[in-house]
Amino acid sequence: MCGIVGYCGYRSAAEVLLSGLKRLEYRGYDSAGIGLGDGKSLDVYKTKGKIKDLREHVPQEASGIIGIGHTRWATHGGVTDINAHPHMDTDKKIAVVHNGIIENYMPLKEMLIGEGYKFISETDSEVLIHLISKFYTGDLEKAVKEALMLVKGTYGIIAFHKDNPDQLVGARNGSPLVLGIGEDEMFLASDVSALVAYTKRVVYFEDHEVVTISKTDYSTSNIDNEAINKEVENISWELEEMEKGGYDFFMLKEIHEQSQSVPRAYQGRIDEEMATAKLGGLNMTSRELLDVERVKIVAAGTSYHAGLVAALQMESMARIPCSVELASEFRYRNPVVEKNTLYFALSQSGETIDTLYAMREIQRKGGRCLGVCNVVGSTIPRESDGGVYLHSGPEIAVASTKAFTSQITALYLFTLNMARMRDLSTEGGLRFIKALKELPIQLEKALGDSEHIQALAKKYAKYPHFLFLGRGINYPVALEGALKLKEVSYIHAEGYSAAEIKHGPIALINEETPSLFLVADDHLKEKVISNMKEIKARDGMVIAVAVEGDKEVAGIADDVIYVPRVDPAFNPFVMSIPLQLFSYYCAIELGRDVDQPRNLAKSVTVE
Ligand code: F6R
Repeated sequence: MCGIVGYCGYRSAAEVLLSGLKRLEYRGYDSAGIGLGDGKSLDVYKTKGKIKDLREHVPQEASGIIGIGHTRWATHGGVTDINAHPHMDTDKKIAVVHNGIIENYMPLKEMLIGEGYKFISETDSEVLIHLISKFYTGDLEKAVKEALMLVKGTYGIIAFHKDNPDQLVGARNGSPLVLGIGEDEMFLASDVSALVAYTKRVVYFEDHEVVTISKTDYSTSNIDNEAINKEVENISWELEEMEKGGYDFFMLKEIHEQSQSVPRAYQGRIDEEMATAKLGGLNMTSRELLDVERVKIVAAGTSYHAGLVAALQMESMARIPCSVELASEFRYRNPVVEKNTLYFALSQSGETIDTLYAMREIQRKGGRCLGVCNVVGSTIPRESDGGVYLHSGPEIAVASTKAFTSQITALYLFTLNMARMRDLSTEGGLRFIKALKELPIQLEKALGDSEHIQALAKKYAKYPHFLFLGRGINYPVALEGALKLKEVSYIHAEGYSAAEIKHGPIALINEETPSLFLVADDHLKEKVISNMKEIKARDGMVIAVAVEGDKEVAGIADDVIYVPRVDPAFNPFVMSIPLQLFSYYCAIELGRDVDQPRNLAKSVTVE
């Protein structure tokens, strides 16, 4: 939520900031602004709308070799020009951008108003600029630290002073911040996507750390003023991975990437000889893994659905009880953290605050929590006790697609490992590996049906409501299908177990509410077919996603989307592809902003 960027160097700061903000736009896109300095003046340009709107606001001749920028996802205060960042002090000498929430902003605001400070915005962030200004006596870093000492809440901030065109001060607590080290230039940003065009050398910060940069140097310390040494790391993502690569939208590109992103999650992690998976990053011995009696996954949104799929497979194949919980609920219910339970924090971004805080709660109670994340260097993997990276490459569309299948892949590898340590035979392990390795071809096939799915989207996008129904391991896929459709097309959709509809939701069936059934060729197929017939008997419309060649389903449903036949454990992979494509094409049909749907943002770093 919210993207921040800072630049200090020899290029036009405006250009670096605007291009950096464009790449951070998926973090929030309701308003944006930049502040530029050249030692003589401090100019702030900000507006409601997207980065393209901000670009029109920034004069061609805007000068400055230092600056800060912000793209906002509003929390406190409406979407207005004034509430946009950067915020400036009353003398217009200091500017600050902030990502996060200042929880105690009301008492701080009252205190500052009492001291004569004038507030012009409705934001919580404005207290920061007045606090920094209050403590400023010529040393910006000192003033920032003193201000942050009074603050409760989360922040990633960058500040600069008009009189010093060679200094930016950044700090973080709960909201991410990364430094990019260039030749005679330095960058600060919420994530590496804003820097990768300029440098691959980065430093990630932990909570309560502060960095001060000039164009040639940087120093790092903590908020208590102790100097700290930070490791310089290299980013593995390439700039091209962050481009649309000929696709109209990132979402479509990312859907189509799945035949490559899934194998990237398992490559180098399969041991054919032992018919198992090897995951070095878990930091656990075989003896410790053998002691695991239960697995619990905490996650949000799409990651939660991926967790549900993996949990069912873990229980049936590895015979380990596995449950999944919404991270936001887990954290606040005083959870029991058990000794022999292994916890997973599952998160594409590695920054989702609900999941991060759930992980911290587990660790605080002495539990071991592993991270399964995509973004290298993000907070969850850095704070977890070990884990697995997805290696999906950047996921830029706000709606998560390729991360879903990679998350299941990574957790399936863990499942295979645990199953092989328990009941699963060598033959069983090899069968599972074979099915896993066949997936890229099956995913390609499923992706090949996109014209047919586009035609169905044209036919069905006009309906205001949808039910997504599945059973067993495909029930979470139905939940994910409903989430995808509502978030990108704004069509109201509900996901249910097909078995559940007779307990209530069947009352919704009418001429405006099609039902999309997932009909795998597994032990539940006949039950699902009965549920389909129940809908048809009430004149409901039915679209079925079924296994290729299934004539029985075609005879009942109004429309069928066929997917390749795979081992039943892998149906969630091939069945999620048509649902993602269907949502995408419905959104296109309705003229929606597919990559940046209304009210949303990627990387949810507020509660
Ligand atoms: C839906 C979506 C969200 C995220 C959720 C968790 O398409 O993208 O529901 O899945 O915000 O995000 P991560 O996985 O980054 O923790």
